[in-house]
Amino acid sequence: MRETATAQPNIALIKYWGKRDTELNLPAVGSISITLSELFTSMTVEFEDNLEQDELHLNNEQNDKLLPRLSHAIDIAAGGDRPRARISSECNFPIAAGLASSASSFAAVVVAASAAMGIERSVGELANLAGRASGSAARSLYGGFVELENSGDAVVVSELLPADAWPLDVVVAVTETGPKPVGSTEAMEISRRTSPFYERWVGDQADDLASARNAIAARDFAALASVAEHNCLKMHSVMWSSRPPIVYWNDATLACLQTIRQLQSDGVDVFFTIDAGPQVKAVCDTADTDTVETALRATDGVRDILRSGLGEGARLR
Ligand code: PMV
Repeated sequence: MRETATAQPNIALIKYWGKRDTELNLPAVGSISITLSELFTSMTVEFEDNLEQDELHLNNEQNDKLLPRLSHAIDIAAGGDRPRARISSECNFPIAAGLASSASSFAAVVVAASAAMGIERSVGELANLAGRASGSAARSLYGGFVELENSGDAVVVSELLPADAWPLDVVVAVTETGPKPVGSTEAMEISRRTSPFYERWVGDQADDLASARNAIAARDFAALASVAEHNCLKMHSVMWSSRPPIVYWNDATLACLQTIRQLQSDGVDVFFTIDAGPQVKAVCDTADTDTVETALRATDGVRDILRSGLGEGARLR
């Protein structure tokens, strides 16, 4: 009745933005991500018959804010008539600030809750359950380069390349540590309803997915960089053109993009991506990580730097 699982966040290179089914939380577009190695969330779920309601301790402190969504994820994995759960979570990076903490949290909680209930599930089944709690969480069930495809009323998640087949590093420039102004679920709905670019975004995604898939298969850094930056800026254009506009960037976000452009013109293999938050993720060749870190650290407004390689999928303990 008590199990612990660990999961790492993933960073989308070809992004998911918008849902085609809000009830089942199915994404409107496929996506491709990399799973990180150094950032982690661990979740212990313990079912207890005598407990009156679910409880959450995050980094050893009671937390009622994140509890409803985690309880919902446990319902998805264990059924609504399950015993109540004592959940304790440890996370070594800022939560809800656009660092994909929801992906690692929901991936880990679904794995832990299934095991604590004694239910055996395949990785694909676990990915679908995690995806119902948070779309990007489905991808954290796998390591390395991961693709999420839409298929009927489920998602198919697969590993395109294992982490060690093409070692890359990610340098995260943290420009703000507080929670984001609007959560991604609400923001995606605003975009779907109001952005004049939304349909075009959905329609063009297959081309970007194909380009990224080919670049990954060929380990072609320049091709991956080009399609990933294009896809990221396109997603943010959809956000910006929504009503009300959804702007997650700050001055330092833009300053980091300029730093990365300068590195690129100096011949460094690096590209950027940005999610639903103001942090900039620089993906680079492992030979260039120190150079990228030094340049981002020296950029105005950068508060902290996190570094990671590519890692494995969610697992028990
Ligand atoms: O998994 P969610 O619902 O938090 O949405 C994640 C959306 C992005 O991070 C912006 C893009 C992505 O594919 O991860």
